[in-house]
Amino acid sequence: MRLTALFVLLTALAAVPSAQSAPPPAPAAPVPGPAAFLQVFKERRSVRNFRPDAVPREHLLQILDIARTAPTSGNQQPWKFLVIQDRSRLDALAAATVEAYAALYQESKKPTEPELAAFRDKYRQVCARYLSAPVFIVVLTDSKSKYPDYNKWDGPMAAGYLMVAARALGYGTVFCTDSFPFDVVKRVFDIPDRYEVVCTTPLGVPVEWPAAPPKKALEDFVAWERLAE
Ligand SMILES: Cc1cc2nc3c(=O)[nH]c(=O)nc-3n(C[C@H](O)[C@H](O)[C@H](O)COP(=O)(O)O)c2cc1C
Repeated sequence: MRLTALFVLLTALAAVPSAQSAPPPAPAAPVPGPAAFLQVFKERRSVRNFRPDAVPREHLLQILDIARTAPTSGNQQPWKFLVIQDRSRLDALAAATVEAYAALYQESKKPTEPELAAFRDKYRQVCARYLSAPVFIVVLTDSKSKYPDYNKWDGPMAAGYLMVAARALGYGTVFCTDSFPFDVVKRVFDIPDRYEVVCTTPLGVPVEWPAAPPKKALEDFVAWERLAE
């Protein structure tokens, strides 16, 4: 076991009340309308096409405020949420992404000039759909955090919270790892080296809420008491 694991464990143990402490208060009552609350999780969808409607700053702050309450190892809270709304910076991201993928395509497939031009056009359209949202968020963790080995768990936790909170307020998101290569994102947005990209996501009002893709049945995931091969 790594030493960091011990520190994280000690932080958790510090939160356990001693035998002499007053009994803890009764658990909080369920949130009003738990069914509606659960529905928000079920109805979150990956959205890749947006309306131009503005996202009020107050909504953005509410969403980011939920993201920062995600579980985090040893309460280290290693996150940064870089919010980009400047259209010229989003255009720069699209242009750099198209070029990065075109270079990859050229190297691996050795296309003809017209094939390469068609590829560029196609990927330009793909980028335009993602970036039709008025907001683009880069979820990052800080490699200089207290327990950097745990950032790989803390990062996606916050991203998940952010996406569910956005859904609750009627906004779509999509957890992107590949649509915008992380090295391109870091370069275009001038992100200091110490920060690691967890994912990027556009955020906005969907053109439509996509239908749920096929999902496996609950019993495919759950094992009671014992897990067979
Ligand atoms: C680790 C991870 C990486 C993903 N990367 C991308 C991506 O680069 N681009 C994209 O459009 N969607 C990406 N997705 C979204 C998935 O495609 C999507 O969650 C999945 O198809 C299920 O759809 P749903 O989110 O609507 O349930 C990613 C999701 C995860 C969890």
